[in-house]
Amino acid sequence: MYILGISGSPRLEGNTDLLLENSLEGARSRGAETEKVILNNLKFSPCQECADMLNNGNCKVKDDIQQVYQKVLKADAVIIASPIFFGSLSAQTKMMIDRFQCAWRGKYLFNTDIFASKKRIGAFISVEASERQDFFDNAKAVIKNFFSVINAVYKEEFFCAGLDEKGSVLRHADFLKQAFELGLRIC
Ligand SMILES: Cc1cc2nc3c(=O)[nH]c(=O)nc-3n(C[C@H](O)[C@H](O)[C@H](O)COP(=O)(O)O)c2cc1C
Repeated sequence: MYILGISGSPRLEGNTDLLLENSLEGARSRGAETEKVILNNLKFSPCQECADMLNNGNCKVKDDIQQVYQKVLKADAVIIASPIFFGSLSAQTKMMIDRFQCAWRGKYLFNTDIFASKKRIGAFISVEASERQDFFDNAKAVIKNFFSVINAVYKEEFFCAGLDEKGSVLRHADFLKQAFELGLRIC
């Protein structure tokens, strides 16, 4: 199994990154091959709604997001991890998702579903400083739309509230364990 983790946090070794890493470690302990993409390290533009957009599910803008399409294509499971920023996904996460509009267009308007090759497992991890369930719900609604475009079933979620300082999740062994177990369950 090849499991792709996508981190939408700008903080390396921040709460999102650490939880995602624990879930990937859980998957690796079951023999899965894993890879982590840190969106903040990629150079890509937000969707430009090109007037001459392709109809075949692909994006004509050649930047680092092209490698994400290839990794998602290969993935048996995709774990998206994003902090809550202003009540929803981080900009990095949303920017990546918008770049899948080409796939949405191919799938729903032109009957060319580039992710149809397999049914994927989708998981969502999120972290916030407050205790607002509605923020997680906002983010989850977008992730569900994204998963339907990449032919992934929304199978697992793990939301951690009350974490703000960088790395403060390390003081919560239970959260780290639950993230690890999410990785186990995916396999
Ligand atoms: C730009 C920005 C916006 C944020 N907005 C929210 C918010 O709306 N609600 C909330 O509970 N926490 C908010 N936070 C706090 C983060 O969700 C929190 O610090 C989280 O632990 C960061 O995860 P990270 O370490 O993976 O980056 C915000 C933080 C930043 C930097």
